[in-house]
Amino acid sequence: MVYYAALKEKQSQMNTVLIGSQWGDEGKGKVIDVLTDKADVVVRYQGGSNAGHTVIAEGKKRVLRLIPSGILHEGKTCIIGNGVVMNPLDLIEEIEAMRASGVEPKGRLFISTRTQMVMLYHRALDKAEEAARAPGKKIGTTGRGIGPAYAAKVSRTGLRCGDMLRDDFTDIVREQVAETNRKLKMLRAERVDAGDQIGVPGCTVKDYQLDADEFARIYAVAKEKLSPYIIDTVPYLHAAKAAGKSILCEGAQGTMLDIDFGTYPFVTSSNPTSGGACIGSGLSPRDIDCVVGVVKAYTTRVGEGPFPTELYNAVDKQDPDGKTMAEVGHEFGAVTKRPRRTGWYDAVIARYAQQVNGIDYWALTKLDVLDTIPKIKICVAYELDGKRIDTIPSSASDLARVKPIYEEMDGWMCETSNVTRLEDLPPKAKAYVDRLVELSGAKLGILSIGPARESTIRVAL
Ligand code: IMP
Repeated sequence: MVYYAALKEKQSQMNTVLIGSQWGDEGKGKVIDVLTDKADVVVRYQGGSNAGHTVIAEGKKRVLRLIPSGILHEGKTCIIGNGVVMNPLDLIEEIEAMRASGVEPKGRLFISTRTQMVMLYHRALDKAEEAARAPGKKIGTTGRGIGPAYAAKVSRTGLRCGDMLRDDFTDIVREQVAETNRKLKMLRAERVDAGDQIGVPGCTVKDYQLDADEFARIYAVAKEKLSPYIIDTVPYLHAAKAAGKSILCEGAQGTMLDIDFGTYPFVTSSNPTSGGACIGSGLSPRDIDCVVGVVKAYTTRVGEGPFPTELYNAVDKQDPDGKTMAEVGHEFGAVTKRPRRTGWYDAVIARYAQQVNGIDYWALTKLDVLDTIPKIKICVAYELDGKRIDTIPSSASDLARVKPIYEEMDGWMCETSNVTRLEDLPPKAKAYVDRLVELSGAKLGILSIGPARESTIRVAL
């Protein structure tokens, strides 16, 4: 209690980390947008243009892949932190789209000199590697070059945004293309069917080989356009903090896609969990005051990998309640447009997310999607090899074998999206929300009951 009182007192200057608690697509874009009113600086700390944060404001829908949605709020500064892998060409496209819609990012958007770049050849490698994986071993990546870019970072061969400021930048690009062509040759020779395409938009890929001159030309233009945005963001952030500004760190993807804590190897290549916020921004753990976990009132997953409460997918599961979730919830990838798999809320996952992220408050989203489902299940534990467990097995193959243990509740069977106060929810909907919160170890901060900014009940944040 003392802690929450202290948080309340501190709310005038509070540094918050916002994370996804499931497999991504929890509705973080909207919650970040809502919380931005209390922040001065918004930092994206991991992932790349594999993410798609959807924001609907003043009747306009926007999908942001790299630029924090804070850019849509006048006077807020946005930072692409060092933990992100940033595709310069995607960023230029996003900056130009912003400008076309009347928002000028220059002077409000900064990219860390330490941010790694996703180059077009990383996309080529991502696609070639995924094509080379045997059935059952495919990850279902977004094909955006994320894994290869993080692999280059860790193997210390990556290019950082600071390199773009160097005079010999295009020479480095040429060297890297030569190295990539060696890898592509190996992939093709070893396992990849010659018929597979590894299309790279805007570039010629001839016989699995990339053209170094073409790459040098493309990146010379990118250097010109992006150089004004690149700064050392660590002193910038600490100066902002010292000046009493509030910082909001936004994660992409979700806890169960975390490279360490997710369903490895069916994960992304970064740390979406709250620890990643420090690593990916240069803030210290002591600078973080509050962690908000965004969690959907049911569960979805896109791509391959285990999903214990799964009801519906495009392949072999056709449960009608899962179909309702997919259809009413518009469950299609914001970036890849792939249909998402859907299933019941999994409180084992939510508890785990609370623990590994230190979640103080939940932002519970998409409750309204369940408005027409007569009986709603909540997974409260699993059964594995005849034993009841209430933690996530660390091995994906064990998680694929668990059987969910469910509690069942009555659905409320009426519309919730017009409700403006928690106490005005239909009693059965309120009971469902209370049960989720009770099972999941943190307080309710925000309840979202529709895609628009206005369809939000701010309980504590
Ligand atoms: P990658 O991040 O493109 O390497 O893909 C690895 C896994 O993470 C795949 O299962 C993707 O579908 C999933 N993934 C990546 N980004 C997102 C996201 O923003 N939302 C949901 N799933 C994602």
